[in-house]
Amino acid sequence: MRKKIIGANWKMNKDLDLAIEYSICFNTLLELSPIKAINEKIEVIIFPPFPFLIKLTEQFKNKKIKIGAQNCAAEEYGAFTGEVSAQMIKSTGAEWLILGHSERRTIYGENMQIIAKKLNIAIKNDLKVILCCGETLEERKNNKHFDVIFNQINSAISNINNINENNLVIAYEPVWAIGTGISANTSEISQMHKFIRKKIAEIKSINLANNISIIYGGSCNPENAKEIFSLPDVDGGLIGSASLQVESFHRLSQQLASFLNPE
Ligand code: PGA
Repeated sequence: MRKKIIGANWKMNKDLDLAIEYSICFNTLLELSPIKAINEKIEVIIFPPFPFLIKLTEQFKNKKIKIGAQNCAAEEYGAFTGEVSAQMIKSTGAEWLILGHSERRTIYGENMQIIAKKLNIAIKNDLKVILCCGETLEERKNNKHFDVIFNQINSAISNINNINENNLVIAYEPVWAIGTGISANTSEISQMHKFIRKKIAEIKSINLANNISIIYGGSCNPENAKEIFSLPDVDGGLIGSASLQVESFHRLSQQLASFLNPE
């Protein structure tokens, strides 16, 4: 059975006090309203900025909520001023990593080669990765969206052997839906998630395609999430703006958990 995955991508928001306040509130909310089968069937991950990783892994030492970083260096160690390596992230207690987010691709010029290199290093360092892919509005208008998504995924995973459903999640995040308040519609999401699964079967194996979690990101919020999470090929969400308020992210996690198959 595929795991449900939900991530809070804080991006460059909050300070240490706000991060701690969020974690205290989240722990209280989890006591009042626990998320069923957490860690067994659903993983809830917070991706704060680097400086808060250690503190947040301490705040969630009960491991109900997992912590991850939003980026890592494309080199393992050495003279790379300002960079943070995969090994450093792992040593904070963080378990997860976001790679290939469209903001990294477009604002920081991360090309497919760099993302493949980062993915390789992350897996080597035992981090679990949410690999993001997504087309721009122009690419969709020109009917290039399937090619774009295929190239982004293929270039990242084709040469890495030791990936599996336990260390890789794909996030489909159309660039035009990120931070705009307008999510992709359910047929656009369904179609692309099916396509991604099919391509993973071709690039890797049918087994991986059947078992890997594919999640959606882009203006997902408590108002539209239920509809999105109910789609058969959608295994969760990567949430930006709507994850900054702890009540909203807790609610989204509950909404996702409501789609777990009863045993
Ligand atoms: P959004 O961001 O939910 O604010 O659209 C999603 C993301 O960038 O991961």
